[in-house]
Amino acid sequence: MIAFSERRRFTAAVFAFVTTILLFLALHQTHTTEAIRVHIGIGQDRFRGPIIPSNDIYRTGSGFANGSAPVLATGKERFAYVTFLSGTLDAPDDLDEDNYFVATRILVWQLLHKPETRTNGIDVVVMVTPSVSASRRARLAKDGAIIRPVDFLHVDNDDWIHAARPRGADVVTKLRAWEMTQYSRILMLDGATMLRLPLDGVFDDKAAKTRSTKRLPNPKPRPAEAPLPPTYLLASLSETADSAHDVPPKDGADLKKPATMNAAFMLLTPSLPVFDYYRSLLNITNAFDPLYPAQNLLNHAHRRDGPMPWSEVDYKWNMRCPTENDFEKGLVSMHEKWWTQPDLDGNQKVKDWLRAQRWEMKGWLDAWDLRHA
Ligand SMILES: *[C@@H]1O[C@H](CO)[C@@H](O)[C@H](O)[C@H]1NC(C)=O
Ligand SMILES: *[C@@H]1O[C@H](CO)[C@@H](O)[C@H](O)[C@H]1NC(C)=O
Repeated sequence: MIAFSERRRFTAAVFAFVTTILLFLALHQTHTTEAIRVHIGIGQDRFRGPIIPSNDIYRTGSGFANGSAPVLATGKERFAYVTFLSGTLDAPDDLDEDNYFVATRILVWQLLHKPETRTNGIDVVVMVTPSVSASRRARLAKDGAIIRPVDFLHVDNDDWIHAARPRGADVVTKLRAWEMTQYSRILMLDGATMLRLPLDGVFDDKAAKTRSTKRLPNPKPRPAEAPLPPTYLLASLSETADSAHDVPPKDGADLKKPATMNAAFMLLTPSLPVFDYYRSLLNITNAFDPLYPAQNLLNHAHRRDGPMPWSEVDYKWNMRCPTENDFEKGLVSMHEKWWTQPDLDGNQKVKDWLRAQRWEMKGWLDAWDLRHA
């Protein structure tokens, strides 16, 4: 009898203890949520307010009047940041486990929301192919991106590209950025790009101007090539070979292939004549090395000794294999994955920073969702 009532008393004690814990957790939860709401409330007001340049790299030129419209007082320029997403159907259903998708979210968050890096009114567009799930499109739209669905880019005779690279059609589809003629200029960024500082000033870089196609004395175009467009812009950077580079990197020693531009960071002027010219190259067997189809096509069309050479922007704008030294010297953005950095020897602070962006984005946007629920 005694044992039985003791057991009852014990059960009641356990029950009371568990209830207390649950109550505490529930209260704490509400408290945390409230704290997040307040915090985001402040961020929100700042998001609407004027953006004060926080460093000398950040320049907006004469444009960006009234804080939002990317319209230059002198011309009628409209800019966009564009990133490309494809082929995520095989990726896990849990979007948080899809590393490349998460990288794209980080980029969108840094461009649109993060106070240290956000744009002063330039559109942020994610170009998505038919293989990007509805859940991914919806998530990015909720984060604030403009979603631009596109069909895969095909021409009659592009089998030679698929033969070399099964996902060739996916990769060349990013050339559809040249069809976005509603914008006067575009900065196209790989999804695995991270910002330390605002990028808007890159549109003022002296390499970022639309230029005239050169008339070469002896052009020798292939018979099937479309006519050369009269004007074009392709400004980019070359890739650093590893983390042992100077700031800025030295030609030859620090760059993988000095004359080769990197399709992960490209300033371009949308233009249908340029797009048609690229399509005609896709249509010519072995017009370029199909291993990296988009990058190699562009490096062929914009080769240094050709009629439309690419121009090189300042290396402060973007680098691969970023180092602590690059960070100190004011690197603005980098082409690096947050989840793995096989070529980034040492530089633990850089690796830690990359990983921290992933969780800062998650926390920030979870709170943003609560605020807008
Ligand atoms: C900025 O706003 C002012 C007045 O509100 C207007 O007159 C001006 O045209 C605007 N500028 C641009 C570039 O939109
Ligand atoms: C591709 O080549 C075929 C002939 O082989 C031609 O009919 C077609 O118009 C070309 N397409 C492009 C985009 O150049």
